[in-house]
Amino acid sequence: MDYLKIQGIDKLSGSVKISGAKNAALPLLASTILAKNDVNITNLPNVVDIRTLLKLLGILGSTYNHNDTKLTINTVNMNETKANYDIVKTMRASILVLGPILARHGHCEVSLPGGCAIGQRPVDLHLKALEAMGAKIEIKAGYIEATAPNGLNGATIVFDKITVTGTENIVMAAALAKGTTTIINAAKEPEVVQLCEVIRDAGVKIQGIGTNTIIIEGTNQELLEFKPFEIIPDRIEAGTYLCAGAITNSELTITNANAKHLDSVLAKFNEMGFETKVNNTNITIYPTSHIKPVNLITTEYPGFPTDMQAQFMAVATMANGVSVIDEKLFENRFMHVSELVRMGANISLNGTVATITGTANELIGTDVMATDLRASSAMVLAALVAKEETRVHRIYHLDRGYNNLEEKLRNLGAKIIRDKE
Ligand code: EPZ
Repeated sequence: MDYLKIQGIDKLSGSVKISGAKNAALPLLASTILAKNDVNITNLPNVVDIRTLLKLLGILGSTYNHNDTKLTINTVNMNETKANYDIVKTMRASILVLGPILARHGHCEVSLPGGCAIGQRPVDLHLKALEAMGAKIEIKAGYIEATAPNGLNGATIVFDKITVTGTENIVMAAALAKGTTTIINAAKEPEVVQLCEVIRDAGVKIQGIGTNTIIIEGTNQELLEFKPFEIIPDRIEAGTYLCAGAITNSELTITNANAKHLDSVLAKFNEMGFETKVNNTNITIYPTSHIKPVNLITTEYPGFPTDMQAQFMAVATMANGVSVIDEKLFENRFMHVSELVRMGANISLNGTVATITGTANELIGTDVMATDLRASSAMVLAALVAKEETRVHRIYHLDRGYNNLEEKLRNLGAKIIRDKE
């Protein structure tokens, strides 16, 4: 297995180009199941999760031509409707094929995605919503067996909790349903917005895009004519590199970003004393005389994103004072805490609240383990400022969502190499 060797450094400098958003690309790839034509996609992130979903779409009978960030995919002859455990177990977001396959073919079998390091990750809200649209759902031997022989019917769906992929699954299912679907308490993440815009541009009437109430007029199983589209920039990758600038207290610019998707994150950098400047699609973070502590509560968009919690915790270890982070979305998203403590960080946990006493101790490099995608990037950030060498193991987690992370950091001055165990 690969691991990263990282030497602590003083400063980073330069600029880094942000890739397309993994969490926008995944539902958009699944939505091509609704298409009757070739779908041309650009700015696709070159990460493992994208390749995994493309492999699944290929197994289901799609044909595609994938060249780095460009993709042409055709699902017209897709005839398979079963997403097997061996693929779903490697990527929970495979659940995103359930809505479109069921809406198009009237039946679908998807392996129940297991939990993951950050939590149990149930899909009960996805299933309850599809049942409200007329689907019959059974769980058999770890598989979701969904049938709707006459197609799905529009319905009013009220999500008990705001769910990103739950909203995405239902938007895709509703696009081909008979009649109108109203989704109440819908997710408003930029990734959900782009999915709605692409489906709208494919001819489906959608109102309330970007709000918590979305109304979709289904086509009654008439497939859609997709227009070409470009994946939006990855706001979490952007926030992660800005954290690299913050933790090393450097001036650093990210390009090809969308600052509108980062309001809550930029506000927190400012609270910590870092000035940030936005110039079109570039964002620059500047060093500060001293890093102030920060209080974070993770919540749904446009609040502070849970996917940036681990990275900010790493930055908080460098702050002059005590920071408090309350992780409200996932019940186990503090796996990075014990790894940071092994490097000398002073962090205590009480339920969903982490208290970080910054600069109490210097971070010292050692062997640490990546446990989930965003925790992995937090370990890399901490390693940038730790004394001596840090070795980050199990970085397959990192490769799922970050394209060429070590190369991008090396170009900013980091001393980081990938090696084999
Ligand atoms: C999406 O996961 C993202 N993944 C996650 O990013 C992100 O952390 C999460 O949204 C929250 O923003 C993708 O978009 C592929 P949820 P998702 O359904 O949709 C509960 C990353 O790092 N819930 O919004 O799975 C759930 O347990 C990943 O890229 C139910 O109870 O998250 C959680 O507490 C990690 N029942 C809350 O809702 C359900 O049926 C929010 O989960 C569904 C969700």
